[in-house]
Amino acid sequence: MLQLAVLGSGRGSNFQAILNAIDGGRLSSTRVCLVISNNSDAGILALARSAGIPALHVSQKQFPTEEAFTDAMIVALQSHGTELIVLAGYMKRVPPRVVREYRGRILNIHPALLPKFGGQGMYGHHVHEAVIAARERVSGATVHVVDDEYDHGSIVLQRTVEVSPDETPGTLAAKVLEVEHALYPDAIRHYADRMLQLHHP
Ligand code: GRF
Repeated sequence: MLQLAVLGSGRGSNFQAILNAIDGGRLSSTRVCLVISNNSDAGILALARSAGIPALHVSQKQFPTEEAFTDAMIVALQSHGTELIVLAGYMKRVPPRVVREYRGRILNIHPALLPKFGGQGMYGHHVHEAVIAARERVSGATVHVVDDEYDHGSIVLQRTVEVSPDETPGTLAAKVLEVEHALYPDAIRHYADRMLQLHHP
């Protein structure tokens, strides 16, 4: 069993999709050991608590320095036995020392087909507005490995949706989110199986 920590800032629908996949046996090689949010009111923390999963509010604002914040994050991750970190709507930059410590073991989901429509400032409705403004016929979702640059690491899995002529950012967001909910568990399974094979051949 690979221990997953999920980091998120908002409602947590991708986290819920991951839990559903685990419960439904579609992601049986993993278990969620911890949820962390920078936002104490985040739906993702409430979802975790109602599923009996340790849920922590860890925010830069609680600490005098970035160093102290990073230390707290690493202690929380390690003390719960985290092997793979999954970002699910995490709106903050992952501290560089966490990226180093978990190099190649952090995944993110982005609501467009990277490398297009990624990078700093490309989040939420901004992404879908840009896709429509560029008159793209196809968009989708991407799961990628996190490195030091925003939306940059290698791509694990992508899935497309068609952009219809009358599409609005709202309708496109809903379509892409539906795809994300199937894609993220698939990508995690794929990646986790590879990690398990590498470490426990
Ligand atoms: C998703 O659209 C994801 O692509 C982006 O943030 C959103 C998170 O939504 N990174 P949720 O909190 O999982 O519902």
